[in-house]
Amino acid sequence: MAQKPIHIAVLASGRGSNFQAIIDGINAGEVHAKIKVLITDNPDAKAIERAKKANIPVEIVERKKFATREEMDSAIKKILDAYRVELVVLAGYMRLLTAKELFDAYKNKIINIHPSLLPAFPGVDAQKQAFVYGCTMSGLTIHFVDEGLDSGPIIYQKAVGIAGCKSADEVTAKILRHEHEAYKKIIDSFSNGTYKVDGRKVMYTPH
Ligand code: GRF
Repeated sequence: MAQKPIHIAVLASGRGSNFQAIIDGINAGEVHAKIKVLITDNPDAKAIERAKKANIPVEIVERKKFATREEMDSAIKKILDAYRVELVVLAGYMRLLTAKELFDAYKNKIINIHPSLLPAFPGVDAQKQAFVYGCTMSGLTIHFVDEGLDSGPIIYQKAVGIAGCKSADEVTAKILRHEHEAYKKIIDSFSNGTYKVDGRKVMYTPH
């Protein structure tokens, strides 16, 4: 039976290379998903150009337009509802989601990718943190999003050797290549199975 595409929203604040990898993966038939909307908090995000080229609707939700973070998240929730989104994919979205109504409505339906092996190096500049620390190994983590910073239950991790890297930028580039491949595979898996979360444990059952 053909895999039914899962309807997703991508939230991105900047460059959008993961967003582009997902678009390319869909076009190549590797990812069974349809990107219903790109949501960004940054009107200058390069991700916007990528969306336009791919004919994906763009919604800009700027922090300064709202009195509180909750109101901003509430506006995001309304967009997700309007586009009937089944999975929310954070790809370099640089804000914490905080509104309870968003988490209640999209429980275990919001995922993020982070460029380290969590719980090591949460937050910004994870690749630089790993490089400066002298790690020989770092990697990436794809996880469900909760109210904390890079703290939700882990779906997938991949270790990437960084011993040979001469700079933090080299670490970033090396991990990023693996991010693109991993995110495509995990997003596709949502169209082809069910994730169950029990405490911090995540279990996957293919259809
Ligand atoms: C990636 O390294 C991702 O893991 C992190 O933010 C970066 C976004 O890069 N959350 P891009 O915008 O997808 O190129």
